[in-house]
Amino acid sequence: MTTPARITFAEVDIDPIAQTAGKVAVLVGADGKLDKGARRVNALMRKALERFVQSERFAKMKAGDAVELAFPANMAADGVIVAKTQNRSDVDEARKTGVSIAKLRGTGPLLVIAGTAVRPSDIALGIALRGYSFTDHKKDKGDAVGDVTLMVSKPEDASADYVAKAAVAQGVFFTRDLVSEPANVLTTTEFANRLVALQDLGLKVEVLEEEELEKLGMGSLLCVGLGSASPSKVVVMQWEGGNKDDAPLALVGKGVVFDTGGISLKPAGGMEDMTMDMGGAGVVAGVMKTLALRKANANVVGLVGIVENMPSDRATRPGDVVTSMKGDTIEVINTDAEGRLVLADVLWYAQERFKPTGVINLATLTGAIIVGLGHENAGVFSNDDTLCNAFLKSAVAEGEGAWRMPMGQAYDDMLKSQVADMKNVGTRAAGSITAAQFIKRFIQDGMPWIHLDIAGTASIKEDSAYAPKGATGWGVMSLNRLIADTVET
Ligand code: BES
Ligand code: MN
Ligand code: ZN
Repeated sequence: MTTPARITFAEVDIDPIAQTAGKVAVLVGADGKLDKGARRVNALMRKALERFVQSERFAKMKAGDAVELAFPANMAADGVIVAKTQNRSDVDEARKTGVSIAKLRGTGPLLVIAGTAVRPSDIALGIALRGYSFTDHKKDKGDAVGDVTLMVSKPEDASADYVAKAAVAQGVFFTRDLVSEPANVLTTTEFANRLVALQDLGLKVEVLEEEELEKLGMGSLLCVGLGSASPSKVVVMQWEGGNKDDAPLALVGKGVVFDTGGISLKPAGGMEDMTMDMGGAGVVAGVMKTLALRKANANVVGLVGIVENMPSDRATRPGDVVTSMKGDTIEVINTDAEGRLVLADVLWYAQERFKPTGVINLATLTGAIIVGLGHENAGVFSNDDTLCNAFLKSAVAEGEGAWRMPMGQAYDDMLKSQVADMKNVGTRAAGSITAAQFIKRFIQDGMPWIHLDIAGTASIKEDSAYAPKGATGWGVMSLNRLIADTVET
């Protein structure tokens, strides 16, 4: 990614406003009242701000929206950004305000006169999240963005609040970087190496290589990578910030660095998108990074299955029967339903080794979830109302779309196989639900569990609320909040 903007908080001071280059942003409530900083801008602009605020255009703006008044009189700035506020204590509105300002800011310096904003650190987070771009493989990386200063009434408090928010932004950026990388760069080995580097932040990281995975009996996960020159791996990341004896929460991610479909080859059109098929693992990695950066008071273990799904003379064939670590046999009807094969073994291993309090897995698992929910909501599948409702609440608070889907015996029945304990696909009907039912077979009795199908939300072709088009980092914020609200107490 390009170097993110440096964000600092300062005392409200009207003196430097006229000399500030780049953009100056002001927040104005729906009542149109101008605070001290805005009044200064208005005076410099010969009341142009006041005229705008009294106009029909301002009246029609929604809370969190912003417009730019170009080339203000008597100011060094080349634009004044006016953001409309309504409910200043609303997290989502504060972040959207930041996003709207970031969209208009250009690359020069930015001064935000936030004044008495209740959540300046969330405005800053919005600016940071929207400012991301992935230019690693471009010759022209664009101009570095200028520094951001937020003038606020309590700069020390805002700075202190922003420490945890900056950790979230770093985690989201880590996820976006991983998801954005092409598969020839982010090979299974490179992915594992980038996770091992998280050790510097105090995480314990282990890489289980193929030999160990074979010993553990992970025949389901291993069958996916047989066609690839890149070795399959499981990476275990442990954050031990909680009480020594408390069992951890487990996060498990699908990390298919590229999904050709294998012998059940995908059509050519759009196959390049399958470079994001490690999105679930990317989110797990992003959350672990955030927890470490903000030194979360919780025990969380992140496990990712990293494989590449390629066709070759050694690849798994449709009709092959493999044995999972759990001991159940699986008839592989379709080698393109590979994510669930990876998750089955990593989930089993996570439960056997860590006896976690709960398990949450993330995967770009099915095209069918995009048919059902589009790119607005991830599919949420769960066996536990308490954990599920807590997650949905966190997702609402963070503005990340999530929608619970049904499960049940009738769907599970669709996985019956003639030759093995189960097959890896159902029929075309309810494709996302049968995928969830498959995974559920590898969840131990009584274990609270959530499966998040993020095929529609991990990477999208249009700008979303907090992200420019491409990798979103969906889920990092919600999971971080879930951990903050339910594990750290
Ligand atoms: N990685 C894909 C799912 C996917 C599709 C992710 C589109 C992101 C965007 C997954 O491995 C897959 O191929 N699923 C199949 C399942 C089918 C064979 C039962 C699908 O959705 O078509
Ligand atoms: Mn697939
Ligand atoms: Zn896949």
